[in-house]
This record gives sequence, structure tokens and C-alpha cells, in this order.
Amino acid sequence: MASKQKKGFTHELLETNVGLLIFFSVLVISIAGLAQIIPLFFQHSTTKPVAGVQPYEALQLVGRDVYIREGCVGCHSQQIRMLQSEVQRYGPYSVAGEFVYDHPFLWGSKRTGPDLARVGQRYSDDWHRIHLRNPRAVVAESNMPAYPWLQHNTVEGANIQERMRVLRYLGVPYTDEQIEAAPEALQGKTEEDAIVAYLQGLGVAGREAAADIMAGEP
Ligand code: HEC
Repeated sequence: MASKQKKGFTHELLETNVGLLIFFSVLVISIAGLAQIIPLFFQHSTTKPVAGVQPYEALQLVGRDVYIREGCVGCHSQQIRMLQSEVQRYGPYSVAGEFVYDHPFLWGSKRTGPDLARVGQRYSDDWHRIHLRNPRAVVAESNMPAYPWLQHNTVEGANIQERMRVLRYLGVPYTDEQIEAAPEALQGKTEEDAIVAYLQGLGVAGREAAADIMAGEP
């Protein structure tokens, strides 16, 4: 071919050299990614709790760990999307400031069961206990597994103070007094008590603020 050969750095050079192609592709993707990620660290709406949201109490924190251990997140999401159908079914859509004390987030991505972002206070403690021991006892067609062992496992002696200190290191504002008092709050409690305490707190404190944001009055 007698066509004119361009000299220097051409697109053809990138397309014919796989090493260069990979290097520059990764470079472009990283810059584009950082342009999306970095501003989020400086947005107050993603780093400040909305009104009413408090760090988890000791018992709720243990319940949250049980929730993670038992894989509840594999069937339940905790994020209500900005869709009419979701808001009608579950309540005000989730806002970032409701999750600032969640390490890690449990938003999930699979809904075999319903979303739990605002399940707190929707049922009684007793309903949850019966449901966890045997879901079919309250919802005949349920395919949720039973968790009968939770009522027998005690949570006393869990390394709650270390956990709270680690969370404080990550930015959760626990006071020394709260950490000091934590082991006592777990006295005589079972894993079932803990997970019920956790579920009953879900989405309650941030509900009003989220509703205001939804109505355009943050
Ligand atoms: C295999 C999937 C699956 C797993 C795992 C699972 N669930 Fe469920 N869950 C469901 C389904 C399906 C329903 C709807 C039927 C019912 O209420 O039992 C449900 C319903 C619920 C409800 C009632 C929600 C509402 O708004 O009515 C709660 C609370 C709940 N699950 C909590 C949990 C907890 C806590 C765990 C972990 C210990 C868990 N689930 C694990 C499938 C699952």
C-alpha cells in the first residue's frame, strides 16, 4: 500500500498494540470513574445523617450482625427507589443520609422477599418472633426459611465494645459512656431479641426527613 503513513502517535498505533490499548483504556476509565466518585466524598447529602437518624444501639448492632450472618440481605433489599409503585408499597423513598452509620451498607440487590428499608414498627415484636421461628405461621404462602435457633443463642459476651470502637474509628459518633454501657445492654438477650430490635428500628428515624425531601422541602 502506497498510502501516506502518518508518523508519531496515531489511533492506529493504539488499535494495533494490545498493551497500549489496555493501558489507555484503563486510564480513561479511571479518570471517568474518579470524576464520579470524588465529588461524593464532599457532598453533605451523602455524608451527613438526615434529621432523627442515630447510630445503632448496642443490641441493634448485634442484630445487624446476625442479619448479615444469616444472609437475610440475599433475599431482602433495604432501599426504596424513587418509583411511584415502590413509594406506595413501602413508604418514602430512601435518602443517602439515612445510611451514614451503616458499615457496610445492606442495600442488597435481590428481592425474593419485600424491601425492609422501612419495616420498623410495621409489625409487633411478637409478630417478628413468630415469623422468624416459622414464617408459615403468619404468612401461609411464605418461602422464607425459618430461623428457630436465634431464640436460643445468647448474645452476652459478644465483643461489642471492640465493634463500637471500630465503628467510631470509621466515623460513627459513639460516646465513651455508650461504649461503656454496651455490655450491660446485652445482658440476658438472645440473637432473636437483637434482630427484632434491629428490624424495629429500620427506616423509622429517617422517615419524616425522607418524606420532606420527597416533598421537596429538605
Ligand atoms: C430465601 C429468601 C429469604 C431469606 C433468606 C429471608 N427472607 Fe425474609 N422474607 C422472604 C419472603 C419471600 C417474604 C414474604 C413472605 C413473608 O412475609 O414471610 C419475607 C418476609 C420478611 C419480613 C416481612 C416483611 C414485610 O414487609 O411484610 C421480614 C421482617 C423478614 N422477611 C425478615 C427476614 C430476616 C430478618 C431474614 C434473615 C434472618 C430473612 N427475612 C431472610 C424471603 C426471605
